[in-house]
This record gives sequence, C-alpha cells and structure tokens, in this order.
Amino acid sequence: MAEFDPHVLEEKAVLPPVEFSRHARVRSLEEYRALYQRAQEDPAGFWSEQAELLHWFTPPTEVLVWNPPHARWFHDGTLNVSYNCLDRHVQLHPKKPALLWEAEDGKRLALTYTDLYEKTCRCANALKKLGVKSGDCVTIYMPMIPELAVAMLACARIGAMHSVVFGGFSAPALSDRMLDAKSRVLITADGGYRRGRIIPLKETADSALEKCPGVEKVLVVRRTGEKVNWNEGRDVWWHELVDASSSLAPAEPFPAEHPLFILYTSGTTGKPKGVLHTSAGYLMQCMWSTRMVFDLREEDVYWCTADIGWVTGHSYIVYGPLASGATVVMYEGAPDYPGRDRFWQIIGRYKVSIFYSSATAVRAFMSWGNAYLEKHDLSSLRLLGTVGEPINPAAWKWYHAIVGKGRCPIVDTWWQTETGSILISPLPGATPAKAGSATLPLPGVIARVLRMNGEEVPPGETGYLVIEQPWPSMMRTIYGDDERYRRDYWNRIPGKYFTGDAAQRDQDGYIWVLGRVDDVIKVAGHRLSSMEIESALVSHAAVAEAAVVSRPDDIKGEAIVVFCTLRSGHEASEELRVLVCEHVASVIGTIARPAEVRFADLLPKTRSGKIMRRLLRELAQKGSVSGDTTTLEDFSSIEKLAQEIGHDEE
Ligand code: PRX
Repeated sequence: MAEFDPHVLEEKAVLPPVEFSRHARVRSLEEYRALYQRAQEDPAGFWSEQAELLHWFTPPTEVLVWNPPHARWFHDGTLNVSYNCLDRHVQLHPKKPALLWEAEDGKRLALTYTDLYEKTCRCANALKKLGVKSGDCVTIYMPMIPELAVAMLACARIGAMHSVVFGGFSAPALSDRMLDAKSRVLITADGGYRRGRIIPLKETADSALEKCPGVEKVLVVRRTGEKVNWNEGRDVWWHELVDASSSLAPAEPFPAEHPLFILYTSGTTGKPKGVLHTSAGYLMQCMWSTRMVFDLREEDVYWCTADIGWVTGHSYIVYGPLASGATVVMYEGAPDYPGRDRFWQIIGRYKVSIFYSSATAVRAFMSWGNAYLEKHDLSSLRLLGTVGEPINPAAWKWYHAIVGKGRCPIVDTWWQTETGSILISPLPGATPAKAGSATLPLPGVIARVLRMNGEEVPPGETGYLVIEQPWPSMMRTIYGDDERYRRDYWNRIPGKYFTGDAAQRDQDGYIWVLGRVDDVIKVAGHRLSSMEIESALVSHAAVAEAAVVSRPDDIKGEAIVVFCTLRSGHEASEELRVLVCEHVASVIGTIARPAEVRFADLLPKTRSGKIMRRLLRELAQKGSVSGDTTTLEDFSSIEKLAQEIGHDEE
C-alpha cells in the first residue's frame, strides 16, 4: 500500500473565489451538504429528478432494480443516446458550435450541432450498410479527429456498442480487444499525427486483423493521405461510403439498459477487462456531473485534453458535454508540438473557459517553466480540472497560481473507467479545496475508507476506498466475465464496490486518494497492469522470468521498472536492454515502455515461489543499486532472508 506523507493532511483549505460562487450552481458548503443529505435520504427521488436532464421517448417509472452486484437503472424507460447528444440541440440552437477541432498542423474545423448531427446520421447509415446491427460491437481505432466522435455517436444512434481502442496501442493489444468484443467491423484511419510524425494506424490495424478473421469490414478515414495496403472487399473508404450516405437517420428508441460501449482497461491479471457501460444511467450521470463539477454554462468553451481512447474522453469530451449542448474543443496532437506553449495558444485562440487536464500534464507544464504561458492570453479561463492520478500539492498550487492566476477554482476529480463518471470532486463554487485532495463525494455517492474487515478507519489512517451504494453510471459487468466482475469489485469487502485505491480521510472528511493497492501501475495517468507487461516481457526470446514494479516519477507519477532473468545463452547488455524495451512497446504500446530494465540472476521469491514484489518495489524506489543497469544483481541474499523469517507475502 502506498506510503503517505502525513503533512499533506495539514494543507490549508482554499476557499472558492467569491465571484465564482455567486454565479455557481451550488454556492456554498451548506448548499452542498443539504443536497448531499437529500440524495442520501432519498436516492431514488434524487436520481429520478436528475433523469429529467435526458430526453426520453418513454419516461421510466422505476428508478433502480438492485440485485447485488447487478443494477438496472431507469430500466423501463427508452431513449436514444445520440438523440440526446445531437437532435435536441439541433432543435434548440442548430448553429451552435459543437466541436472546435484543431489539427496538430494548425488546421481548424468548426462543426455546429447541425454539422455533427448530419455527419453522425451519414455514418449511422453507412454502418447499417456494412451490416452493423443493434447489439453488435464496433471497434474504433482512430486518432483524435472529429470522425472518432462521429463514429461513437453513430454506433449509439443505431444501438451498436463501440469499443474504442486508444490509438497508441500496438497490434497485439488491438487484436486481443477485437477478439474479446467479437467485433465484425473496425473503424480506423490511414494514420494519425504525433509531433509531426505519422502514426501508421492502418498498418497496425492490418497486422492486428491477421489474427481476427471475424472482422469482415474495415471503414478507413483518410487523414494523412499516405499510401496504405488495401484489402478489396474488406476495406472501405469513409469518404466514399459515409459521405455518400443519407444525412437522415431517425433515432430509434432503445431501452435504458441497452449496452452503450465496452472500454478495455487493465486489471490485476494479464488480460484486460472489457468494462461494460449501458445507456441512460451512464449518460445521465455524465451530463449531471458535467454541470455540477464543471459548472457548465451555455456560453462556456470547454476543453478536456484527454484522448478519447480513455474513459475521460468518452465521458468528458463526448457524452457529458455533448449531452449538455456544450461547445467542445478537441485537439489532435501533443502538448509540446511544435512548441511547449501549444496548450496556452489553444486556450487563447478559442477563449477556453473550462480546462480539464491531467496531473501529469500539469507537472510537465510546471517543469517547462512559466515563460510559455506568459505569451498568451489566458483570461478566458474560469475553471481548471485534473484527473487520473493524485496531484501533488506543489503542482496543484502552481496550477492555481500560474494558470488560474488565483481566480479559477480547481476541481481534482476522482473516478475510474468502471465508475463511468466523476464520483469524488469539489463543487467549484461550494467546496473549499485542499491541494492534493479530491475532497468530498458528489451527492448520491457514498464513499468510505475501510479496512479489509469492513471497519471504518479513523481519520489520518490508510484504508481501502469503497463505494457503498450503486450509482447510475456504474459499470454493469465485465464483458464476457461476470464472475470476474463479482470477484474483483463486490466480493473483496462483501457488498461494497472495491475501487482498488488506497485512501485516507482527514478530520474534515476530505478524501485523499493515495494510489492503487493492486498491481495496476499509472504511467502518466494511463492504466497498465504489471502482469500484462510481464507477459509481454517473457514472450521475448531472451527473457526467462520477469517482474514489473513501479517507482515514483516526478512528471509521470509512476514509471515502470523491470527486473528480469535471462535464458541461458543470453548475456545482459545495454543492447539487450533496448531490445527488451522495444519488445514491450511493440506488444502493448509505447505507453508501456519500461523506464528501466535490470537484469538479475534470480528474482526474490517466497517459499511458495511467489515473486516478492514488495522487495523489488523497494529496490526500484530506492534508486539504482549500482547505477549500472547492466550489472547483474544478486538477489539470493534477499531470498535467503525472506526464507529465514518465513515471509510469504501476497
Ligand atoms: O487510482 C485512481 C486514479 O486512477 C484510477 C482509475 O484509472 P482509470 O480507470 O484509467 O481512469 C482514469 C480517469 C478517470 C483510480 O483508481 N485516479 C483517478 N483520478 C484520480 C486518481 N487518483 C487520485 N486522484 C484523482 N483525482
């Protein structure tokens, strides 16, 4: 479990700016507490009120059917998710910008709600022509271009699930996900841009498709114009099929619990989990939390810098903001390309008022220095957010003072792929913030910090963060593995949702999330499983055995450290170290590339043969033992010690 720095609890509260509170949806801590209490006393009444945010073809008569651990929210209502994100806004304000897209090379495209609606209808009709039916799962492997949002909304329109696979994943990771989701259609692009380089997505997809004979059709957006291999009969150009399809596609009603998407995320084992989200509860809570946490207004220009390949992009680029009728900025590329002021330039250009980014990004900006900000007009900003990993108080304070000029509240939002939407966060006009704390649970959310036996831990002690009651945007199951859903989330502390995070509560009830208690590693906020990386490592011809742990990293939060033993006939060398790193990147993706590889004669093990990760973690965190990564380290003495005390961890 993560170590905790006790002086963090002494962080002084920063009050919401008076001017902000005056116009906010929730204006004081008292108002928040009243709302919280109301939701706690009558959750059904509370959520049924929030369900009025949605457009229903048939309004629901029942709020929740709870057969633990399975929840059905608003189950007898019917709706269409894409109607909620598009049609109703087209009726109200057809010319309002929905997506303000900026390419890495500076090209811009503004899509109004009408434009986005028409593109989505065309794509929905095209998908139907490709044989996609309600209940099918379409895999989407794309760069950050408007067609990605269009493809998701088009799937939703016709009742097909989407499974978006982050464009940085490699071919094996993509094929595993396509196979698990049983996709028959893939939507991709010829390529994407990253720091001026072309990322050959189609080539990677082609290689993944060799393992996926079930994929019959591949719809390809032309983004880079590079020459790509073409499989006649299977591959179809987007600009030929979609652009030629009708811009009218009536939105059919689907049941509230109709599956909306699968999103794969890393867990404790090597196999990624397909987190399944359904329609109404998910959409409602995304929309509601967008309004509450970001205090979204009609005139706001909202920018979430995440990639849509992760849950943050699903919930807070696409579904939450578009269901709210917001104007959303979407950027294709890297924050430091062509210069380290790219984000500030974008904020100035579009007059962004709400900026939602990651702790890693904030730490990187801080390390790059203030000069990059000073050239740009950031006066349009009124609210800042972070997500994905704990933000250290120093980075929080820099964000507050230098980016927000002390004027903008910061919302440190805690949530997960599985929770679907933000569960713990300040309400910007109401909650005094404390640098480094996600503060208090949102109304309707019962969060506790417990011991394994279910007892509450006292303030200032570390325990497991759990959620006690079901909430509308919660995952419904792990696709194809309900047993794992029960086991991982609801049976650890029976009857409670186990988040996998360690946390503390302070004397004010504020929650401080400290990090993962399982073998999930967060690199730059991206979730990776140590087991997944280990299985990639042992698939390399030279590697006999591998153990993966993390060490703290000043910018990325955590970095991957690999300990491995070699097969006979292989010698440790700098060259091999590079090859091993490359191998991991090619099996999973560049995000999983180890920061450090150490070769050893033996890995420390318990008597029962389990690798003692705790020792390795200590070793990795203490820094380099020898300073020379190619030196063989001798773990046999550690092993001996462990055997002496009969230590059998895990
Ligand atoms: O450990 C927590 C951390 O990110 C995990 C969830 O990762 P993922 O499913 O990829 O979703 C990330 C984006 C929602 C959590 O279990 N985490 C997320 N937000 C915070 C956080 N840790 C501390 N503070 C946060 N605000």
